[in-house]
Amino acid sequence: MFKRKIHIAIFASGTGSNAVKIIDFFKEEKNISFSVLSNKKDAPVLEKAQNLGVETFTFNRDEFFKQEEVLNYLKSKQTTLVVLAGFLWLVPSNIIKNFTNRIINIHPALLPKYGGKGMYGMKVHQAVVENKEKESGITIHYVDEQYDHGTVILQEKCIVEEKDTPEDVAQKIHQLEHYHYPRVVEAILNMM
Ligand code: GAR
Repeated sequence: MFKRKIHIAIFASGTGSNAVKIIDFFKEEKNISFSVLSNKKDAPVLEKAQNLGVETFTFNRDEFFKQEEVLNYLKSKQTTLVVLAGFLWLVPSNIIKNFTNRIINIHPALLPKYGGKGMYGMKVHQAVVENKEKESGITIHYVDEQYDHGTVILQEKCIVEEKDTPEDVAQKIHQLEHYHYPRVVEAILNMM
């Protein structure tokens, strides 16, 4: 049970299964509130968040990279932690500087393998299968000004069988993500 007020801002551009798992994990915590932010006005994650009673905020490229809209929103919510969950844009330095060690990301591979610009979602799993990797996994890390680069917090592995399709790998990875990401968020909040 968290005694102080906590606000978690989740950035997501897609389906939002990780966002939903995190929100659900903390549903008994009366002092934790959420917002979901997205650059995609039609991202399924937005409707899912609204159905859970979570406020949403959308923004365009200029508002994110050239203006202070997003930073001001995060400040107005007194955001404790920023959680990237399937968010594909590089976080600009004005946000990084205001949230040092308070932004985390999940990547669906064992970084530094299969990371960097353009490496996201199914593209990662396709590359893993094409390269006949024997294992893959997840990486949860702090966010800095480079793609998939900051200090690693947790890595968990799964086996990739020869017969596995990229979809099979995606399913294994999502299982790992859904279990570990909420628990890593909890551990970080406990350390703050
Ligand atoms: C997750 O697998 C996450 O690791 C990945 O996008 C997926 C989002 O799924 N993120 C990246 O590839 C970032 N480089 P979700 O929308 O169902 O949570």
